[in-house]
Amino acid sequence: MNVISLTVWTLENNCFAVYTALIVGFTVFTFLHKRTIEERYRNRITDKKEKLPRNGSGGKERDFPDDEGDEPYLVPAIPEDTPHVPYKPLKRADDEVLQRSRDYYQLMANRRTVRFFSPEPIPEGVLENLVKTAGTSPSGAHTEPWTYVVVQNPEMKEAIRNIVEEEEELNYAKRMSRQWVTDLKPFATKPTKPYLSEAPALLLVFRQAYSWRPDGRKRMHYYSEISVAIAAGILLAAIQYCGLVALTSTPLNCNARLRDLLSRPSNERLELLLPVGRPHKEATVPDISRKSLEEIMIKV
Ligand SMILES: Cc1cc2nc3c(=O)[nH]c(=O)nc-3n(C[C@H](O)[C@H](O)[C@H](O)COP(=O)(O)O)c2cc1C
Repeated sequence: MNVISLTVWTLENNCFAVYTALIVGFTVFTFLHKRTIEERYRNRITDKKEKLPRNGSGGKERDFPDDEGDEPYLVPAIPEDTPHVPYKPLKRADDEVLQRSRDYYQLMANRRTVRFFSPEPIPEGVLENLVKTAGTSPSGAHTEPWTYVVVQNPEMKEAIRNIVEEEEELNYAKRMSRQWVTDLKPFATKPTKPYLSEAPALLLVFRQAYSWRPDGRKRMHYYSEISVAIAAGILLAAIQYCGLVALTSTPLNCNARLRDLLSRPSNERLELLLPVGRPHKEATVPDISRKSLEEIMIKV
């Protein structure tokens, strides 16, 4: 009996066992290689997306697609005939540019996240200037996708604190991973947030995912996340520059409740909650270090 006839004979006489073995083998192989298969599939999709033709023709997917069913309204939100005007900022000498870059680095290197505030009030007009400064930020297609809610009223601060503390109790107990809670230990953060009622002002940064034109049409906000992140950076730098301090906080799972409390519309999402003021005279900060220039900069 040669190999072929032996194989045929085996298949004919033990087909149930052979097929069962094949199915079990396939299932075990798939299970063991699940991760690799999924990774390859994901990479194929990413590669396909990256390989979309440079001239945009032929690609089926668009970034920021038009709303399904709606005919795109092909009139720019800002008038197409907006004039372009000369821009001539003050030209500084090279040594002055260098000196200013050093000075600004020193200023920003002293910024710290502060979790203990003095109740001293913030001088009149400062919060307005800080928000105006944040409003100078660049944004995708100049959509300016932000709203800054300034809270100084003690009852409102208390109401915000109650919501954040309630959610934080659950976050720490159930919603955050054990690794996350462990990684936060050096910062001694807790569900209780006295600074939310002690700081003289709370600045809440809302991101608008979209807005409406004067005629009621929807206006898409391209890159709203990064636009708001840049604006928040400018705001933090302004707070540092004027001599106040802030706590950059991201209240987890508080968006809906704080949005309702502050009567913000559904196109807005709370991104940051910044208590702002002067540090408490006994404020402390964790003694952490920052990565060196060599670690964060690559020159090509
Ligand atoms: C996106 C972001 C979210 C943060 N969320 C919180 C927060 O919810 N609570 C908190 O106490 N600190 C928060 N921080 C502050 C960081 O813990 C702090 O920036 C970091 O420890 C570095 O310290 P430094 O800001 O003093 O340099 C956040 C910072 C960033 C940038």
